[in-house]
Amino acid sequence: MEKIVSLCKRRGFIFQSSEIYGGLNGVWDYGPLGTELKNNLKQYWWQVMVRERDDVVGLDGAILTHPAVLKASGHVDTFTDPMVDCRTCKARLRADQLAEKNGARQCPNCGGKDLTEARPFNLMFQTQMGASADPASIAYLRPETAQSIFVQFKNVLDVSRKKLPFGIAQIGKAFRNEINPRNFTFRSREFEQMELEYFCRPEQGMDLLAYWLKERIRFYEEIGISRKRLHVLDVPEKERAFYSKGTFDIEYEFPFGRQELEGVAYRTDYDLQQHIKASGKPLDYFDEETKERFVPHVVEPSAGVDRTVLALICDAYDEDSAPDEKGKMETRIVIRFHPRMAPIKCAIFPLLRNKEALVAKAREVQALLRPHMNVFYDEGGAIGRRYRRQDEIGTPFGVTIDFETLGEKGEGLRDTVTLRDRDSMKQERVAIKDLPQLIPSKIR
Ligand code: GAP
Repeated sequence: MEKIVSLCKRRGFIFQSSEIYGGLNGVWDYGPLGTELKNNLKQYWWQVMVRERDDVVGLDGAILTHPAVLKASGHVDTFTDPMVDCRTCKARLRADQLAEKNGARQCPNCGGKDLTEARPFNLMFQTQMGASADPASIAYLRPETAQSIFVQFKNVLDVSRKKLPFGIAQIGKAFRNEINPRNFTFRSREFEQMELEYFCRPEQGMDLLAYWLKERIRFYEEIGISRKRLHVLDVPEKERAFYSKGTFDIEYEFPFGRQELEGVAYRTDYDLQQHIKASGKPLDYFDEETKERFVPHVVEPSAGVDRTVLALICDAYDEDSAPDEKGKMETRIVIRFHPRMAPIKCAIFPLLRNKEALVAKAREVQALLRPHMNVFYDEGGAIGRRYRRQDEIGTPFGVTIDFETLGEKGEGLRDTVTLRDRDSMKQERVAIKDLPQLIPSKIR
């Protein structure tokens, strides 16, 4: 993990938030490459979960949430973790994460055994709307994106005129005042979710749970996460939410242990029923064919953007060896991102920075490729060093403009370049005019 955290900072994937002021615990900023990676992940999720389907539409709900919504959903009363204080070092700890020594609970911070009894701690961030400070002005930062989907169910149904089964998808920020944020971005206080609420008839629930589990595993494979590091936990009944008839956790083998990436849960009609009761508004569905009116059930695949980004980096991180400028073998850090996820798809290198014709040609190639993908132009340092810099951030392709490109080694090679593959380090000679089709064909 140390190597990954250090690479993330050094190369601009992820920075500690407010770092120059000592950092804000459990909050992270994504740097230039992290932002690209995160956007690629979210766009691909949206592509396969919404755009490629007839049965799913999108929503972009507000973060500030009416307290009545979260009262009805159960968050105000029960969205808590058991918390304990250490009287010795004053650390605030999650009761279920305490170490035990000789049968006694121990503070992981100072080793002290003088701990308070566990008490519930609500994980929601509360804020004030408007100038007055009375209780009626309380609002919450949403702890999950799901609730705005349930609350807007009827509006979306009316405008989209979808028939069951159909889903509403959303990507957005969620906030939880985690007692113990840890493992880099894995448990953060501000994070992003990609959630689908897939509404169905009650008798379809269990089959759709199995269907979505399969779809979601396929998604992780398609973004390049190795199947052997993915695990499915069939959550036992006593550990599931009381309203869930089945929940699977998709887990990933992080360097710090096997942990949840996504939950796929059959939530029955619990959420819609709660909002019907609390708001008094009908959130039901009328089946034109059977003439039945009923409250739909829901299957929810709920994934974390930040956890998936972390899994992508952990899974792709590798070290092998490659020759340096003098042909001596050295350790190479290479991030083997699936090209679909890579922040930069292709780097463009003029062989020498002080040869005007090489630089001009390289700029031409950059302009040619830019409309098709995210490219990066680099003319600084020996070519081997430039390759290494790109390997370390997972750029799958590199194009080098050399003297052959200029026609100096025969007319047959004019306007051709070398295309280097990050993983095999092999180079092939290709015509510049073919690059806009060739590289995207290797990305998809
Ligand atoms: N609507 C259901 C729901 O929110 P959850 O299991 O609490 O379920 C879903 O959260 C996903 O959101 C998790 O699988 C995880 O990927 C992500 N997530 C939850 N809490 C997180 C945190 N503190 N930091 C980062 N990601 C988190």
